[in-house]
Amino acid sequence: MRFDIFTLFPGIFESPLKESMLKRAIESGLLDVQLHNIRDYAVGRHQVTDDYPYGGGGGMVMKPEPMFSAVETVLGLETRNAEVGVRNEDSEFRLPHSEIPIVLLTPQGRLFNQQIATELAQHDRVALICGRYEGFDERIREHLATDEISIGDYVLTGGELAALVVVDAVIRLKPGVLGDPTGAIDDSHASGLLEYPHYTRPPEFRGWQVPEILLSGDHAKVDRWRREQALLRTWRRRPDLLERAELTELDRLFLQRLVQSGSRLT
Ligand code: 6GU
Repeated sequence: MRFDIFTLFPGIFESPLKESMLKRAIESGLLDVQLHNIRDYAVGRHQVTDDYPYGGGGGMVMKPEPMFSAVETVLGLETRNAEVGVRNEDSEFRLPHSEIPIVLLTPQGRLFNQQIATELAQHDRVALICGRYEGFDERIREHLATDEISIGDYVLTGGELAALVVVDAVIRLKPGVLGDPTGAIDDSHASGLLEYPHYTRPPEFRGWQVPEILLSGDHAKVDRWRREQALLRTWRRRPDLLERAELTELDRLFLQRLVQSGSRLT
């Protein structure tokens, strides 16, 4: 899978891509990250990429020309303007169907989650545009991007760290990226529940015991215990997730007992 990342600070991406799973995914050819410096597409002696906002106010705004030029050149899109634009159902001008999602990273985007990661993982190529300064010229949002993503309700200094979050969450869903072939199946959020607790050796550490059941060798019991722990943890920490989780009849019974007991089951 290929990511084209448009940024004014390509250096931010260097070390995260040189460590651990992302490094291995790149080495094995499963991940290709191409960094494009937006400044390289700005014209003039100073290669200016930002300017003052019309209407005044503080902060700088990213100019549309270098961004359009960068994305159109790299993705091989035809240059378009308002006259030849195609109106979509929102009555906005959009690309004459870019097969490649062009994602703007912005705190105003839809909130990134496991489902959006899964959606993006269906594509062989995704473009990510990282904003800086106070924001983008609105025409980038309206006529260049096909999607907008935020990674949470807080403000970062730019979209670069968010782009890395997206690359990481998406690429680990691709078969072969995680060492373990069942890798992403049991994840927190994959099933709509938080994950059950994990333990490894030693069986006793500073007097704290590993739950008996995990040492019992009874796989059916272990599976049920893990499921109940996942339900318990989700109910306590993220009850909002239970509304959309896929639950069996047994799960629902367990949750009913939990509610009745006031969560004293552990
Ligand atoms: Cl995608 N960008 C910025 N600048 N801040 C954010 C964000 C993105 N997501 C959450 N906060």
